[in-house]
Amino acid sequence: MRKPLIAGNWKMNGSRSETRELLAGIQHGLGEGFPFEVMVIPPYPYLQLAAGLVKHDGLVLGAQDLSPHAGGAYTGEVSGAMLVDCGCRAVLVGHSERRSLHGETDADVAAKFRAAVQIGLTPVLCVGETLAEREQGQTEAVVSRQLERVLQAAGIVAFASAVVAYEPVWAIGTGKTATPAQAQEVHAVIRAQLASEDATIGGLVRILYGGSVKPDNAAEIFAQQDIDGGLIGGASLDADSFVAICRAAQ
Ligand code: G3P
Repeated sequence: MRKPLIAGNWKMNGSRSETRELLAGIQHGLGEGFPFEVMVIPPYPYLQLAAGLVKHDGLVLGAQDLSPHAGGAYTGEVSGAMLVDCGCRAVLVGHSERRSLHGETDADVAAKFRAAVQIGLTPVLCVGETLAEREQGQTEAVVSRQLERVLQAAGIVAFASAVVAYEPVWAIGTGKTATPAQAQEVHAVIRAQLASEDATIGGLVRILYGGSVKPDNAAEIFAQQDIDGGLIGGASLDADSFVAICRAAQ
């Protein structure tokens, strides 16, 4: 019912030559046909180069962020229309590093989500709790609040063309992967919240797990009922590791 999706968030890594090399390695490793969707998410400067190198319809180009504005006096920002112009079909919204390092609020994230939907980009809405919030038993409240703010701003219909990524902040880049049970528990909460607005959409939305996914833990995580793939950071920078994680979604 839900086609698995594995997305590689390259974060602030790479160069022109590394973009060429990584995309060649990923596409060689994937081969011609694969029963899942793959997304690569390079830094802004390499989007157009990547768009020209992507050879397979099942390989989608995404961006790591976007401006909530359509254009104008917003120095340093990049609009959704510009991302579409560069060949993007998707965009991360509300990644925890944007929230923590750039002070993005739930309202900011909701505005970016709306901007992505309005320009025809698939938003990948990132939600997740910090270690302190988990230790205080606030995980469900935090994730539900982050999701609810976007639902209020964009409505459930917008999620028909969206993806949600649950990324426990304490698992990002730390090697401390959530257990499959921990991840499934939160994914089920996310899906139930969406389904309470619209059962069909709630059942169709792909919910990815992100946070120290590696080739040796991916299969068990992806086997969970409400986990539809992964949002991969560090391991997406190595073609063989990323392809192995993709294969684990089969
Ligand atoms: O966006 C994905 C990223 O936050 C996960 O990073 O390195 O833990 O796979 P990593």
